[in-house]
Amino acid sequence: MTKRTSYCGALRSEHIGSKAHLYGWAAKTRNLGSLIFIDLRDRAGTVQLAFDENTAPEVLDAAKSVRSEFVLEVVGVVRKRSAENPDIPTGDVEIAVSELKILARSETPPFEISDDCKTAEQIRMKHRYLDLRRPTLQNALITRHKIAKLTRDYFDEHGFIEIETPTLIKSTPEGARDYLVPSRVHKGKFYALPQSPQLYKQLTMVAGFDRYIQIARCYRDEDLRADRQPEFTQIDIEMSFAEQEDILRLAEGYIQCLFKRTLNIDIGAIPRMTYKEAMERYGSDKPDLRYGLEIIDADDLLPGTKMICVPSKLPRKQVDKFNELLKGIGGKGVVTQSAKFITDEQRSELFARADANDGDDDHTLLLSRDSLSQIGYLRTELAKSLDIIPKGVFKPVWILEFPFFIWDDEIGDWVAAHHPFTAPLDECLPYLETDKGAVRAKAYDLVLNGIEMSSGSIRITDPELQGRIFTLLGLTDEEARRKFGFLLDAFRYGVPPHGGMAFGLDRLVMQLLERDSLRDVVAFPKLQNASEPMTDAPDIVDAKQLSDLGIDMR
Ligand code: AMO
Repeated sequence: MTKRTSYCGALRSEHIGSKAHLYGWAAKTRNLGSLIFIDLRDRAGTVQLAFDENTAPEVLDAAKSVRSEFVLEVVGVVRKRSAENPDIPTGDVEIAVSELKILARSETPPFEISDDCKTAEQIRMKHRYLDLRRPTLQNALITRHKIAKLTRDYFDEHGFIEIETPTLIKSTPEGARDYLVPSRVHKGKFYALPQSPQLYKQLTMVAGFDRYIQIARCYRDEDLRADRQPEFTQIDIEMSFAEQEDILRLAEGYIQCLFKRTLNIDIGAIPRMTYKEAMERYGSDKPDLRYGLEIIDADDLLPGTKMICVPSKLPRKQVDKFNELLKGIGGKGVVTQSAKFITDEQRSELFARADANDGDDDHTLLLSRDSLSQIGYLRTELAKSLDIIPKGVFKPVWILEFPFFIWDDEIGDWVAAHHPFTAPLDECLPYLETDKGAVRAKAYDLVLNGIEMSSGSIRITDPELQGRIFTLLGLTDEEARRKFGFLLDAFRYGVPPHGGMAFGLDRLVMQLLERDSLRDVVAFPKLQNASEPMTDAPDIVDAKQLSDLGIDMR
């Protein structure tokens, strides 16, 4: 126990008259001669300290010497604030300080510690511990902690057991590049950091744990984006004797609990959509359902054509912009309903199909012959530029029946869309070899506001089917054994049917708090170039370290 009576940010009018013993950082100081005010900040918020003609002279002197970010210990009485500040939760009260101790001084910080700080990210990241003092980041990390706690509680209540799996493992790339760790004992050999605990969690099923969960750190050496960090955290689950429906229901309950307990929102049943429907209606397997702008098929009127009906008159310049945008991603571009080759009849049919009136000025039809995913990109860019994406709205959706194979233009062949233990739909088994493009998987994603939150599948546990799939993926028996031999061996000793999924914890927190980047919900994130400017990671190492590992730098 400390002597602290409460956090600064927790003081309210009901505390008026009581004694306060507080600790915190000086956020702001105002010296008006005989009156001094200091905003004292801790993780719960700030409260105003007041020093006036009734303050003992030595306390007043100490207050005068306080500068931004000094660490203070304060004793005083909570009183009604003369000039109330409705903008902050503690705005009704202030502390009439009777004792003040400076516990630590601070140099002038390199940037102002406030939520509207405009200092470049590079500089803030260099001093991330100061950046983290900002209320918005404090709030994000506290919420993150609460989400992790309620995640463990939820899955514990549903019989899941948290099991830690190793992070120095054999390299079995899952799609991204591995981070490799050289072995000192076995020169020339490498561990990999896990891209996910996938194979180990399946082994916990073979081992009979039945329901596994882990809040697991994962590593992927891939290009960074706002929703991608090279190291990130998964809420990783696996269940035996469960079918897709059981897993979806359990996950849905979890998401409902998350929204209720963090935002007090009843998110309700999560709608479901097949991959095919998502692509046809939204041009994306991660559709953002917060706005319409659905893709409308006009192939029968104008061969190969799809359109989006924009509920406003788009100026020529904007249409040109969207045209360029599509061309920029390798598309052919867009035209509007005024294109010369469209007959009057076709135009009125197009408008009818879009539920809009021909000839009115409040709609623009954007027509394109580009691919669904290109038009999907146009759709999201349209929404951004029309500024029609509502705030505070959450639209989760399950995307089901993902394709099993995807065509790889570079290789000129079908490749696995998921890891090779994902099961195909039973009804697709007869044509696995003959119609690869039509094979769908028992794979499901949860998408929230246009971002993938989780991904999972039912796994293959039948050795004969597994053999077929390896062959289809071009893996020889030898290769399959070298990569996955340990799992295949394990499956020979009684493997229960199982499946699972993994949520991105960072992404869940980012979405719930409506932040733009994972960097706003990770304590010590990496920058775009995968560096961490505060510690200068990655960094060179001693020649001795390298020679111990048997590594020569070229
Ligand atoms: P997947 O690779 O889809 O599936 O990852 C699951 C979830 O993890 C999150 N995620 C990331 N978050 C931040 N930065 C990244 N670089 C990043 N990569 C992924 C996403 C994603 O939905 N083993 C399978 C799961 C399973 O089948 O059980 C897997 O890892 O939210």
